[in-house]
Amino acid sequence: MAINIDEMAVFCKKKGFVYPSSEIYGGFSGFFDYGPLGAQLKRNIMNSWWKYHVQDKEDMVGIDGSIICNPKVWVASGHVGGFGDVMVACKKCNENMRADHIVEDQLGVQAEGLSSEDFDKLIKEKDVKCTKCGSDELGDCKVFNLLFKTFVGPVEGDKAVAYLRGETAQLIFANFKNVVETSRLKLPFGIAQMGKAFRNEIAPRNFLFRLREFEQMEIEYFVHPDKEKECPYVDEIKDYELLVYSAEMQENEKEPVLMKASVALEKGIITNGWHAFWLVTETKWFEELGACKENFRIRQHRKDEMAHYSSDCWDLEYKFPFGWKELQGIADRSDFDLQQHMKHSKKDMSIFDEETKKKVVPFVVAEPSLGVDRAFLVFMFDAYSTRKDEKGNEVTVLKLNPKIAPVQVAVLPLINKLQDKAREVFATVKNNFNCFYDKSGSVGRRYARMDEIGTPICVTVDFDTLEKGVLTLRNRDTAKQVRVKIEDLNEKLNLFFAGEDFENLGTAVEK
Ligand code: GAP
Repeated sequence: MAINIDEMAVFCKKKGFVYPSSEIYGGFSGFFDYGPLGAQLKRNIMNSWWKYHVQDKEDMVGIDGSIICNPKVWVASGHVGGFGDVMVACKKCNENMRADHIVEDQLGVQAEGLSSEDFDKLIKEKDVKCTKCGSDELGDCKVFNLLFKTFVGPVEGDKAVAYLRGETAQLIFANFKNVVETSRLKLPFGIAQMGKAFRNEIAPRNFLFRLREFEQMEIEYFVHPDKEKECPYVDEIKDYELLVYSAEMQENEKEPVLMKASVALEKGIITNGWHAFWLVTETKWFEELGACKENFRIRQHRKDEMAHYSSDCWDLEYKFPFGWKELQGIADRSDFDLQQHMKHSKKDMSIFDEETKKKVVPFVVAEPSLGVDRAFLVFMFDAYSTRKDEKGNEVTVLKLNPKIAPVQVAVLPLINKLQDKAREVFATVKNNFNCFYDKSGSVGRRYARMDEIGTPICVTVDFDTLEKGVLTLRNRDTAKQVRVKIEDLNEKLNLFFAGEDFENLGTAVEK
């Protein structure tokens, strides 16, 4: 990783990946718009997630719930009553700050699980200052609810209040009975959803990391309550290595340890096979799409961080330039949410278990919940690299995995005279791949532009194309070139995108 988060934001804007939202009016804190390349990359990430987690799995189905729903959902889930962060305001400049952020940043202490009173005490005793003006005159801490309110219908007032969803997960619980009845699911099974979520964050920061409008890809994985630890898939993941940072290691100030999932289970560090299964599954998804495994670790929540209904929770963390941070929470939620919705809606959420011939309220053994925008950052950071060009200048190469690259194939006529032939070639590939046609500038400049936005292959139409029917393919990561016949182009590209080495696609071009 060669750049920091601010430089990444500049790069994303310059190349058309992400812009500050409504920038012509000065932007809007916590909101960003995805540009042409970013929108495609984000879509590719989400499609890949859906395929890997839903379409390729027998025990998974997906839904697409509404962003605004009956507000009782959020009362039952506890979001209306208790979905908040502790906020502190500066008496001098009125800056609002998250108490955990300023305490962590200025005192270097872990702030998870602290109450408003704990923060008040720390801030006063340790002379914590305003991050904006430096004053130590800070007000009392108070809890600020993160749900965005809106009004439904023509009349504003308490009765019309509704909320933009604070997570996608609650729609899974609210639809649980409908999904089970219409999909003939048998335990264990998972329900997935991806889409927008909204949180009125006190202090959005770090570009796409903490937003007020973001996207999530979430799964609720349901098991029989008496079989909470019976994961049939442990064999599939046992040899996969994870960098493990358990609660015990954190409490005793030890370093994380690289170990096989089977070792973590044998040693009782991970106590449930399902957790190991999901932690590996999620890390693998990132790795298979080109993320660097050494930038990932799994961190167990300490007791003081854990929600009261949760018996265990692990985060998949990534080493961002601003530190190890949560990418994805994998929490054990027991039957908390279904019980809450049963209580509030008075509807039965139990399902009939064929094996035990009993009605049961399933347990959520894992809730893999990933932010799309954070995943987007991971792929961008791990792809970002530089190299020296032939003139010795440093140039950017975005080594995105070909499966998610926003432009997969660029077709370039060597000179303008070759445009007719180049357009013919473009027409033969554009239905199969995300393609881009670029005729302007020197071919070297066009290669450099494609390297910068992560295009894995450039197809150049030159005089040999007219005379001998061959094209030059250039590889982004190595700048190596091979020749292939026009009629073989689609087949060769398919091979490449299925994982074949670039050099095996055709005859090498000697420089
Ligand atoms: N349903 C569980 C849930 O929502 P969470 O830890 O609050 O749990 C899950 O959020 C994931 O959503 C996080 O790990 C993160 O990737 C993403 N996320 C949460 N808040 C975010 C924000 N303000 N901006 C961007 N992503 C966010």
